[in-house]
Amino acid sequence: MPTDVSNKTRFFTESVIREMTRRALQRNAVNLAQGFPDFAAPAELKEAAKRAIDEEYNQYAITHGSPNFRNAIANKARTYNGLECDPDRNVTVTCGATEAMIASLLAVINPGDEVIIFEPFYENYGPDTVIAGAAPRYVALRDPDYAIDRAELEAAFNPRTKAIIVNTPHNPTGKVFGRAELELIASLCQRYDTLAITDEIYEHIIFGGIRHISLGSIPGMADRTITISGLSKTYSVTGWRLAYAIACERLTSAIRKVHDFLTVGAPHPLQEAGATALRLPESFYAGLTAMYERKRAMLFEALAGAGLKCRAPQGAYYIMADIAHLGFPDDFAAASFMLDEVGIAAVPGSSFYHRAELGRRMLRFTFSKSDATITAAAERLRSLERKLAARRG
Ligand SMILES: Cc1ncc(COP(=O)(O)O)c(C=O)c1O
Repeated sequence: MPTDVSNKTRFFTESVIREMTRRALQRNAVNLAQGFPDFAAPAELKEAAKRAIDEEYNQYAITHGSPNFRNAIANKARTYNGLECDPDRNVTVTCGATEAMIASLLAVINPGDEVIIFEPFYENYGPDTVIAGAAPRYVALRDPDYAIDRAELEAAFNPRTKAIIVNTPHNPTGKVFGRAELELIASLCQRYDTLAITDEIYEHIIFGGIRHISLGSIPGMADRTITISGLSKTYSVTGWRLAYAIACERLTSAIRKVHDFLTVGAPHPLQEAGATALRLPESFYAGLTAMYERKRAMLFEALAGAGLKCRAPQGAYYIMADIAHLGFPDDFAAASFMLDEVGIAAVPGSSFYHRAELGRRMLRFTFSKSDATITAAAERLRSLERKLAARRG
């Protein structure tokens, strides 16, 4: 057994989502696997980024974020999230929510600590926890409604529980955590002296008039919550790598130190453009919701029309579809058939679970795509039943 790679990395597997994307390209399939837009970013943001470069915001910003961007973040955190937030004491700008999460974990974890992660999960949380030196502890959110099982959650908390990761709106299920569930998490965090690290990257992609609630705004949580969000999803700029962590001064000071050693800082001109993004008027967010509500309906109709059982998500931009009745040995076989025969890339559900068996009946499809892409997928889905029949012979 070679010994030149760490035990930590031996535990990691390649991203199934990126693998599906690679195969989609080879097969010329419609890629509904990877959650990023294939349409243009808002024109005013692109203009703001170009302007910032021309105005010479081309050197390092202050490591924890340019004042202009942090002011805009603090203002938004107060008005949209209901968080007390001072730009100088509570905000750290990072290279994506991805960096914010790992910097936060590295800032708070000690050997022997445990971190609670709900499954299904966004694929980085397990490796992040391991890199930070903690043991992940998984609690299942079960379909069809992915509600918290109170007994299972309570059983996972113990004196070693240093943190719980809460992602709302949730990838991959589209669940939006309601107030009662957040209050349950808050009460357990307080009972066990546990921190909450939230991932609210989809906070503006939320449907049917449901309101996004930040765990950090629940009474008693301000000093024990690290709130993470960013620009990738709301403003369709996943390549800008801009996000932030909001926390009390004590935690922020630790996160800033880790962030400084990890990356020094996020791209300065894009931070200036990010301030423009956060100051867009209400109408931008209404337009965003309306756009994704329409795309959600298009994909839902296409999947349901092809005989796949699914629920319309409350937030984020994914639909989990039940493929159990199609007769495949597992979700990977179903995803391969979908890719090779139908021409659509989706993500096998089990890749979002630690206990893979919990996700075997699901495929995840994203609707973060142009109407033309979703229409092309819908057309291909119309052939699903015929191709399944041919497969059965
Ligand atoms: C839940 C969740 N968190 C974080 C990210 C990545 O965010 P960022 O681009 O800011 O690193 C994603 C991207 O798919 C995600 O789904």
